[in-house]
Amino acid sequence: MSGNNKTVISHFVLLGLPITPEHHHLFYSVFLAMYLTTILGNLIIIILICLDTNLHTPMYLFLGNLSFTDLCFSSVTMPKLLQNMKSQVPSIPYAGCLTQMYFFLFFGDLESFLLVAMAYDRYVAICFPLHYTSIMSPKLCVSLVLLSWVITTSHAMLHTLLLTRLSFCENNVIPHFFCDLSALLKLACSDIHINELVVLIIGGLVVILPFLLIIVSYTLIVSSILKVPSTRGIHKVFSTCGSHLSVVSLFYGTIIGLYLCPSANNSTLKDTVMSMMYTVVTPMLNPFIYSLRNRDMKAALKRVLQKKTVF
Ligand SMILES: *[C@@H]1O[C@H](CO)[C@@H](O)[C@H](O)[C@H]1NC(C)=O
Repeated sequence: MSGNNKTVISHFVLLGLPITPEHHHLFYSVFLAMYLTTILGNLIIIILICLDTNLHTPMYLFLGNLSFTDLCFSSVTMPKLLQNMKSQVPSIPYAGCLTQMYFFLFFGDLESFLLVAMAYDRYVAICFPLHYTSIMSPKLCVSLVLLSWVITTSHAMLHTLLLTRLSFCENNVIPHFFCDLSALLKLACSDIHINELVVLIIGGLVVILPFLLIIVSYTLIVSSILKVPSTRGIHKVFSTCGSHLSVVSLFYGTIIGLYLCPSANNSTLKDTVMSMMYTVVTPMLNPFIYSLRNRDMKAALKRVLQKKTVF
């Protein structure tokens, strides 16, 4: 038994997606197209926000950060998935696996903390419109972004360091398309009680706390609108919060669907589909949700393009 525990695993095998070989080419093209759309859409948003000074407001600076996070989040899993779909032996080195897990946790978390910062920004904009510029000072915005980075770095680091303590036996097949923390814990053959406890307590906090904070800020927004009900007020909330609310619902909808709904017999399939949702679909849709309905973004795009043709 002790000899078993000493086995050093040099790499893991990622089983990938549960699709039949004849559909491989189709899915490969679809995922490649989705990944390129994600990169392009988010890059356009980042470039627009950097170039256009009218968009240098807290809301758009947070949106730029969110786009950057989306871009990185899908780059953690998608290139490896696409590469593995093309290779005969879909393996990943041990260090690569831990790195992927670290950045997956990091950017996933960062996304939820940025959504909190954006919710707070909307709360201040609607409930204290006159004090908005003094409350949401550049200093506060930078502090909020920095705080998110510090929390997410330590959270991802904690899980990764705890995972390096574990030893793995012969079984190195991960039934997933990326190095997922819970899939790795299932493979470990040493005691994982501490890891599970940390996932439950810290992981729960890091997922539930941002969600509660967003709910609280929207409750305050709605109650302040209800105090002075007017169609203009309601219209204002929908036009400034609509996009944010859509992104929040998309992000937390899939997480809640994944972890809270009791899984039926085919839990691996459900896990994979849900993971696909938030690693691929959400980062791809975010730029569209923000730019399609948004007059400021369209105007900025027009200005930037016109500037190009003038010079
Ligand atoms: C992220 O937010 C910070 C602080 O508000 C800002 O200075 C920075 O430009 C933002 N980054 C992007 C890519 O928008």
